[in-house]
Amino acid sequence: MIFGVDYYPEHWDESEWENQARLMREGGFNTVRMGEFAWKLFEKEEGKLDFSFLDKAIDVLSKEGIKVILGTPTAAPPKWLVNKYDVLQRDKYGRKKGWGARRECCANNPDYIAKSEIIVTEMIKHYKDNPNVIAWQIDNEFGCHASTRCYCEHCRKKFGEWLEEKYGSIDNLNEKWGNVFWSLEYDSFDDIILPAYNSCEGAYGDLWSHNPALDLEFRRFSSDSWVKYQKLQIDILRKYTSAPITHNLMGHFSDIDAYDLSRDLDFVSWDNYPDNQWGDSEYEYVSMAHENMRGAKNKNFVVMEEQSGPAGWDILGSTPRPGQLRLWTYQAAAHGGEGIVYFRFRTALFGMEQYWYGVTDHDGVPRRRYYELKRTGEELQRLEKYIIGAENKYDALIVKSYDNSWGHDIKRHAAGYNYENHLYSFYKANADLNITTAVSKGGYDKYKAVYMIAYNIVNDAETAELREYVKNGGTLVLTFRSGTRDEYNRVRPLALPGVFKEMAGIEAVEFDAPRRNVSVCGGVNGTARIWCDIIEPDTAETICAYGSEYYKGKAAVTVNRYGKGRVYYIGCDLDDGAMREIVSVISKSAGIETIDAPKGVEIINRDGYKIVLNHNENAVCTGVRGRSLISGAEFDGTLEGYGAEFVVPCGP
Ligand code: GAL
Repeated sequence: MIFGVDYYPEHWDESEWENQARLMREGGFNTVRMGEFAWKLFEKEEGKLDFSFLDKAIDVLSKEGIKVILGTPTAAPPKWLVNKYDVLQRDKYGRKKGWGARRECCANNPDYIAKSEIIVTEMIKHYKDNPNVIAWQIDNEFGCHASTRCYCEHCRKKFGEWLEEKYGSIDNLNEKWGNVFWSLEYDSFDDIILPAYNSCEGAYGDLWSHNPALDLEFRRFSSDSWVKYQKLQIDILRKYTSAPITHNLMGHFSDIDAYDLSRDLDFVSWDNYPDNQWGDSEYEYVSMAHENMRGAKNKNFVVMEEQSGPAGWDILGSTPRPGQLRLWTYQAAAHGGEGIVYFRFRTALFGMEQYWYGVTDHDGVPRRRYYELKRTGEELQRLEKYIIGAENKYDALIVKSYDNSWGHDIKRHAAGYNYENHLYSFYKANADLNITTAVSKGGYDKYKAVYMIAYNIVNDAETAELREYVKNGGTLVLTFRSGTRDEYNRVRPLALPGVFKEMAGIEAVEFDAPRRNVSVCGGVNGTARIWCDIIEPDTAETICAYGSEYYKGKAAVTVNRYGKGRVYYIGCDLDDGAMREIVSVISKSAGIETIDAPKGVEIINRDGYKIVLNHNENAVCTGVRGRSLISGAEFDGTLEGYGAEFVVPCGP
């Protein structure tokens, strides 16, 4: 299995390479990912390609048996390129992005595309027969540093073409978008604008300044632009190699559709930094990010950058505690990570990331983190058959929809509402009940419960598929703000909850965005604050009702029998405790087993064994006893702080 480090030989004197490679080998690292920011080193002057520096580095590494994943270097354009060609992105105010960091180029810029094609072609021609290059990474983190959407003239023209292909005629587009509103009809596709700065924005901040149809299509187009740019590079590589190709995605990041971006890749990889300058993540949040990345292709993935030290650009986040690097490694494995590469081998002495600590510190001397990873690597190689190709026994699915993520971002419905947080609240409740939960889309029949959270933009094919799923015995969970818009981001002329009204067996006759606590009581007890649908059940039963406001006594959460299955409708947001209660009720009725374990304990179900993780600093009794697949010894259920086990349980 890939157990590696991200490596930047260009940051070190050549005289240090051999020692660094030896330390890698001694630490058990068998792979490095490199090259992804070294464009200037490969092409010092336009058209003068020279890979000798990388050849030497690969050679040194190969002597220690270390293989290489090569990154195409297009995330960091050299200065000669931006001097000669106008390749830089424009923001929504028309301002040119400055050079001096990375990810500043536009995916639709013909010169950037042409120069990318040259460097990628030359690179693959040079390395196609090198047996030490085992895989390729395209570029680096598309969309990072808010670079998904560019507002330049190239993008505007391409957007027009993209729309013409989709809508056929401008009249059709005008009609679908409702451009009659405020006299916004276009006469031709050449007229198309981008949702840039306009007269509304100054008045209300950067929200609401454009027709939501335009806004949504621009997000789709921008996402597609990077998918297309990536495909261009993939196609070049494919002409010369059959080595697997990946890109390093970003977990929860939603500006680019991860289903589309991963479609053309052999495997997904992603970059995981749980605790850094910008805050510490809850463990469920990290698990959900892993699931999101597994769900992008419904296939196991590689972590291409895993945090290996304290991390920050100007200030530092907390230092990984003893045991935590091992725990994060097992957490990745538990959610489908079948290879892991730690960022980075040695901490940089210069540049933006001097404080982004790696496996070793600035002096390159192995210390605690290095030795912890060495031990972890040894264990992992023994556990390989439980990691490579391993599958979880998923009971529940949280549907992640990029259209809905963008749609909710464009119109947020209520102060404090956030689609991603809403999804996470359901993932967290499931995870806290130790329900093994996937995050993906489609394939509903594989799951006992499917959560379509705030599924606002929904097309007819999706509705039909869901209807079948429930009729055949599935459990579908819907929430407020579901079923009300079509794929053009138009509101449907239907009573709430729109296309789901019949399936849910209710009508939401009114709603309230209260911005103060509203009590909810009955089968589930707690508080709502952001949104309350006031429900009139038709064929549905009420699970709980509101306990305050003018709608006191009105249904808040309902369940409806539909065919052989059930549809739950959760009409309000709920605090963490109430979320756990309702997910527990839903799971019980769907025949999903929940496991009561102490807070911070994560249990993942696999065929014949369980993965048990203790995210607490202190030892806890997890309640899972049996035989450890890591040590072969009996496991009495007690896991040390930040401990991890693969356990074959011995009875109840
Ligand atoms: C990632 C990126 C790396 C490095 C790392 C630490 O987002 O891919 O190149 O910048 O973060 O900041």
